[in-house]
Amino acid sequence: MEVRCTGVDPLRLGSPNTAISLIMSALFGVWSVQTLEMSVGKVPFLEAVNGSTVMLPCTYFSCIGIKDLYFNWQFNDNGTKQKVCESVIPSEGVMPHVKVFKERVTFVGMNRENNISILLWNITFDDAGQYTCFGINPKEKGKNHSAIFNLIVVEELRVVDNTVTIIIASCVGGAIALLMGFMLIKNFTLFVLAKLEEKNKECLVTSSGIDNTENGLSGSKADSKPTPKKK
Ligand SMILES: *[C@@H]1O[C@H](CO)[C@@H](O)[C@H](O)[C@H]1NC(C)=O
Ligand SMILES: *[C@@H]1O[C@H](CO)[C@@H](O)[C@H](O)[C@H]1NC(C)=O
Ligand SMILES: *[C@@H]1O[C@H](CO)[C@@H](O)[C@H](O)[C@H]1NC(C)=O
Ligand SMILES: *[C@@H]1O[C@H](CO)[C@@H](O)[C@H](O)[C@H]1NC(C)=O
Ligand SMILES: *[C@@H]1O[C@H](CO)[C@@H](O)[C@H](O)[C@H]1NC(C)=O
Repeated sequence: MEVRCTGVDPLRLGSPNTAISLIMSALFGVWSVQTLEMSVGKVPFLEAVNGSTVMLPCTYFSCIGIKDLYFNWQFNDNGTKQKVCESVIPSEGVMPHVKVFKERVTFVGMNRENNISILLWNITFDDAGQYTCFGINPKEKGKNHSAIFNLIVVEELRVVDNTVTIIIASCVGGAIALLMGFMLIKNFTLFVLAKLEEKNKECLVTSSGIDNTENGLSGSKADSKPTPKKK
């Protein structure tokens, strides 16, 4: 996302946009510091064998502390959210009374160090899916936040190294695809700008820049390839 944002900026010509985005990021920064945050950890998914017992991790965080924090866990079953458990935490460190609605679920976080993790015993294939850890803090004017944890249930575990390699490979692949997509969009934008310049000589882009682009793009039109710059 950052790649896209910094990539788009040079194409924007007015300074008001920059000012607005600076203000937005400043506001967003302040907002994200003050608000309640739920976290399922750095790895928001788990692959586990059917029949095993798994922990669904979640912790909350608030800079100004909590009072009567409401939290629940929800399971996304075919698009309908089912409550797994819920409770209200009077204050930090106090062990809450947790209502459990799904079978084979135990609250194990005990609110120790803001831990509201749950344990899911003897998992079945039906237990696979999205689990949302949701919290709302009245002390922060009812600010709410949620984090999603994915449970994948398999018949037997694959080798972990393979999974990591696949993830890395697909990340690299995705980054390359994103870069290529961005290059295409940029070329297309330059092409459109050049076309506009042809029709309207009052375009804000400097004429030298457009000249280069036009030369490149007229070459690309002939053999319809998006890599015209190398001759
Ligand atoms: C997991 O599922 C497979 C296939 O349905 C089954 O053969 C196996 O017994 C199950 N394992 C456990 C521990 O339930
Ligand atoms: C979920 O959807 C699938 C296919 O759409 C269906 O076969 C299954 O019965 C549904 N499960 C529940 C619990 O509704
Ligand atoms: C999980 O399975 C084991 C063995 O099948 C059983 O003894 C135990 O009671 C089950 N636990 C829950 C919470 O269902
Ligand atoms: C939360 O509590 C569980 C159970 O005591 C523990 O296994 C887990 O590591 C804790 N998580 C964090 C982030 O402290
Ligand atoms: C959570 O907050 C959003 C606004 O940030 C609000 O639209 C939504 O209704 C809130 N959800 C609950 C359950 O209070």
